[in-house]
Amino acid sequence: MLTLTIDEQEVTVPEGKTLLDAARGIGVDIPIICYHDATTSNGLCRICVVDVNKSRLLQPACITACQNGSTVETHNERVRHSRRTILEMLNSAVDLHQAPALQDMMKDYEADAARFPDAKRREQPLYDDNPFYIRDYSQCVLCWRCVQVCAEDAQYTFALTLGGRGFDTHVTTMFDIPMPESPCVFCGQCVGVCPTGALKPKIEFGLEQGHSLEEIRQMTRRPRRRKPDSEEG
Ligand code: SF4
Ligand code: FES
Repeated sequence: MLTLTIDEQEVTVPEGKTLLDAARGIGVDIPIICYHDATTSNGLCRICVVDVNKSRLLQPACITACQNGSTVETHNERVRHSRRTILEMLNSAVDLHQAPALQDMMKDYEADAARFPDAKRREQPLYDDNPFYIRDYSQCVLCWRCVQVCAEDAQYTFALTLGGRGFDTHVTTMFDIPMPESPCVFCGQCVGVCPTGALKPKIEFGLEQGHSLEEIRQMTRRPRRRKPDSEEG
């Protein structure tokens, strides 16, 4: 077991626990974006950074293991400043209007939504290629949760991958093929873990677009194929 101090509270945890786990265990809330309890953490977004022993670099709590005797501050001004900047940069490039958790963080950290007015936006076409869900990657924060849950973390389907490089990195299918031609089994797990409006059930999308229930039924159902009379029982 290891003992450390988080926000002036002493906590004892088994070796191997992350700072995020330890903080949660004593009721200290650390914001997360790319982390999800059901997926492997890769420390991508850095919103969970904390100050460990006043060291030069802040540490991402979701992937940093607890160390015996550490002193951790999860909400000091340095940490808040870092989180605020991350949110402002994300907001400058990505459409976050359907990401309530991120909107709440913007308020909590007093992020300035207009801090980078000339920033390039991550524009992506909306993919509406199947009866189950739409993909609007202009709302994607590249947390990888959908890619991971589609792969080894849950479904082992590997329908999703990453394409492009640098600023143009985006989630896609292999060779950018339409979803019905990919190995996707439409389990919906990617939609379930997406923290923004990037992945959305087609029914919800249809209602937002003002379609009637009958129109949505047409959009989300395929007509049943009638068996030839000779096969009718
Ligand atoms: S589509 Fe959603 S779950 Fe997938 S990477 Fe983008 S924000 Fe994350
Ligand atoms: S939540 Fe820890 S790096 Fe994203």
